Amino acid sequence: MKVIMFMAMTTNGMIARENDAEDFLSDENWYEFCRMAKKSGCFVIGRRTYDVVRKLYEKYNFDDVEARPIVVSRKNPKLPKEYIVAVSPRNAIKMASRIGFKSMILTGGSNLNSSFMKLKLVDEIIVNVEPAVLGKGIHIFSEENFYSRLQLLDVRKFKNGIVQLHYKVINHAKKTR
Ligand SMILES: NC(=O)c1ccc[n+]([C@@H]2O[C@H](COP(=O)([O-])OP(=O)(O)OC[C@H]3O[C@@H](n4cnc5c(N)ncnc54)[C@H](OP(=O)(O)O)[C@@H]3O)[C@@H](O)[C@H]2O)c1
Repeated sequence: MKVIMFMAMTTNGMIARENDAEDFLSDENWYEFCRMAKKSGCFVIGRRTYDVVRKLYEKYNFDDVEARPIVVSRKNPKLPKEYIVAVSPRNAIKMASRIGFKSMILTGGSNLNSSFMKLKLVDEIIVNVEPAVLGKGIHIFSEENFYSRLQLLDVRKFKNGIVQLHYKVINHAKKTR
């Protein structure tokens, strides 16, 4: 299973405001995510991301993405029937593989991204860098002890100033000292 992490962030790595608002991110980021998720066939999100996005975007949210959604949670969240609930990152991969998916898009939040990184489960990282900075907010990775080297695969520039960076994770392991 190839795990491709996709996130939209400010130039200083913020993915949301402290109150979870994503008003500084352009719609292009969402369309890009939908395109990637459709291509892959499935996507995986943390339980908080599911709750926040559903609350913020009542009429258009993860329910509308043309791909199989997987929510990772240690609890037993109430979700629409097409959603798969996984109890861990490894369990999410196992369930997606069992259905026959060959790749999955991991798209946050902060906490789940770090959970996958710590377990060395991410193969590629794609970040859409929005031309903005935000002093206080939620970082792309929650604070955890991991370190990975990346190899730059591609750079794309969008008309509205977003820069998309595409990396391969070449070297997991090696905890920071
Ligand atoms: N800009 C972007 O591209 C983007 C994308 C996605 C999200 N976001 C933002 O990110 C924020 C949410 O991030 P977050 O870090 O607060 O939450 P999160 O990562 O979405 O969800 C955290 C929850 O996921 C579950 N989880 C995480 N690691 C797990 C593990 N190893 N095993 C089992 N369950 C695990 C737990 O659910 P339970 O508590 O149910 O056990 C945990 O409380 C929101 O503001 C959202 O808008 C931004």
